[in-house]
Amino acid sequence: MPLTPAKVAVLASGRGSNLAALLDARERGKLPVEFVLVGSDKAEAAALQLAKAANIPTIALDPRSYPDRRTFDLDLFARVAASGAQWLVLAGFMRVIDGEALRPWAGRIINIHPSLLPKYRGLHTHRRALAAGDAEHGASVHFVTAELDGGPVIAQARLTIEPGDDEQLLAQRLLPLEHHLLPAVLAVLANGRLQWRCGAVHYDGRPLSGPLILRDHGLE
Ligand code: GAR
Repeated sequence: MPLTPAKVAVLASGRGSNLAALLDARERGKLPVEFVLVGSDKAEAAALQLAKAANIPTIALDPRSYPDRRTFDLDLFARVAASGAQWLVLAGFMRVIDGEALRPWAGRIINIHPSLLPKYRGLHTHRRALAAGDAEHGASVHFVTAELDGGPVIAQARLTIEPGDDEQLLAQRLLPLEHHLLPAVLAVLANGRLQWRCGAVHYDGRPLSGPLILRDHGLE
């Protein structure tokens, strides 16, 4: 393990339960990283309050005060770089990011998405899984590219869809799995076990043939 903890920034747009899970994992000694910044596109995001309570620096930038998406993204990502972050986690950050802003972060930025990617990119993933009659649903953590929820998938948490599930219940049952999946992936990323190179995700030096799976709170 590195002597100095990896520096991590988190971007979040909403309630911040995945951020809370990251902070909790760190608190419990399961995630040896230092959170250097939490940023948001929404000044009222609960995630910012969580960060402040944990004494993590925060920024909130309003996309409406920029001429276009690219200018906003370049400014936001310049501030993330200035924080000293080596890794960037999107934890419910609900925006597509400009390719130029992303370029310096290739292989160093991950996102959590509530579906078994490549199924159901975008919104309403639980509703769409139910409407399709899927037997299984889940969450994915992937490296971020300029394509919405489209980068290479690193790891997934799966759950069986039950007869009584509706959209709300399914989301509610999936969320605790997200809360284990994201810290588990960040931990292996920050300690150097996970890389994205030559077009493939490598884990412990070997290319992955499929996503890692979360089992009993560990990645296999
Ligand atoms: C999570 O379910 C996350 O997977 C999803 O937003 C929610 C954020 O919740 N992300 C996406 O849909 C990204 N495309 P949180 O604010 O409580 O962490």
